[in-house]
Amino acid sequence: MPSQPATIFDPSKTFDDNFDHGPFTADPSQQPYQNIGEPKYEFLGHKLYSPFGIAAGSLPSSNHIKYSFERGFDVLCYKTQRSVPFECNEFPNVVYLDIEGDLTLEQAQKPLVGHLSSDKPLEKLTITNSFGNPSRGPEFWVEDMKKAVANQGKGQLLISSIVGTIQEGFTQEDYYNDFARTAELANSTGVQAIEVNLSCPNVAKEGILCYTPEAVISICRKIKKKIGDTPLIAKVGYYSPAQQPLLEQVVLETKDYVGAFSAINTIQAAVVDEKGEQLLPGEGRLKSGICGAGIQWAGIDMVKRLSTLKMKHSLNYEIIGVGGVATVDDFTLYRDAGADVVQSVTAAMWNDKLASQIKTTL
Ligand SMILES: Cc1cc2nc3c(=O)[nH]c(=O)nc-3n(C[C@H](O)[C@H](O)[C@H](O)COP(=O)(O)O)c2cc1C
Repeated sequence: MPSQPATIFDPSKTFDDNFDHGPFTADPSQQPYQNIGEPKYEFLGHKLYSPFGIAAGSLPSSNHIKYSFERGFDVLCYKTQRSVPFECNEFPNVVYLDIEGDLTLEQAQKPLVGHLSSDKPLEKLTITNSFGNPSRGPEFWVEDMKKAVANQGKGQLLISSIVGTIQEGFTQEDYYNDFARTAELANSTGVQAIEVNLSCPNVAKEGILCYTPEAVISICRKIKKKIGDTPLIAKVGYYSPAQQPLLEQVVLETKDYVGAFSAINTIQAAVVDEKGEQLLPGEGRLKSGICGAGIQWAGIDMVKRLSTLKMKHSLNYEIIGVGGVATVDDFTLYRDAGADVVQSVTAAMWNDKLASQIKTTL
């Protein structure tokens, strides 16, 4: 584990323990971050004190949202929710990888060796996460999200991340409609932006949808019909250079529905132990989503390509850059690449001061 204790979300504890008892405050005496003056950044029509926050993953409840807003993270995603209760994958859900530098697509084709602990510094830490988008169901999260919305302060934005769930007897159309139904539930909480997770690598049955433009277009159209003026964010994975035509098709054909793209989710790879055997227990868990330092290159590359496509076709979407942001310099690299907003998950689990560190440079 990195040397400092995890505060926002502690991967050494189960998901339920984090959910019910987190966040785990390193310094209980710390006071809420105080912004000075007026918010001067803008994203999807909202004023922000900073274009920085936490992407979907480490904030599964309104307690986590409140804690993170109070630490000065201004753009937060409530962890991906479903229209039905859904179990978390078996513990452990995070393992630490032996990656030095960038995780190339070529490397990700071969199994990566993982460990249950690591002494790497946060800015070099690459992990895999495999939760499977657990949800306690709308009976819990709709009310809890209303509390989270109430915790959003001036110059801050809460985003609700949602996904569809394949249920018994479902056709493809039913599955796509379930995304829209979940977005409608999220919209009923008063949240001011909704993100559709089109890139989860951790539920084998559901697959990574963002590489199927027809699915993306249909889902985004159905969601937008249900949420009206609430902006829709599409969370996508990394498109290889050979997949550029797919990316171009997606941005062009969703232009009437998508207000922002968030890139990237993770890079999928097989993770094994030192003997070459599957490390994460359970069916369908050989491959999982790699995140942290090793994927930063891919997040930045996607931000640049989304930026270029936006100019090329005179489109209006905004861009959230995600992947391997652990320091002020990482934040700046994303902003320079064209990100309107930057988010972190892996590093922010351990460093709840990351937003205040970035704010000293704005
Ligand atoms: C613990 C953990 C849980 C995650 N859960 C989700 C999720 O529920 N929905 C989602 O869209 N992405 C999820 N992700 C992916 C992150 O949002 C992010 O795209 C990815 O981790 C890259 O950012 P990072 O390198 O800062 O971690 C999760 C990542 C982590 C580390």
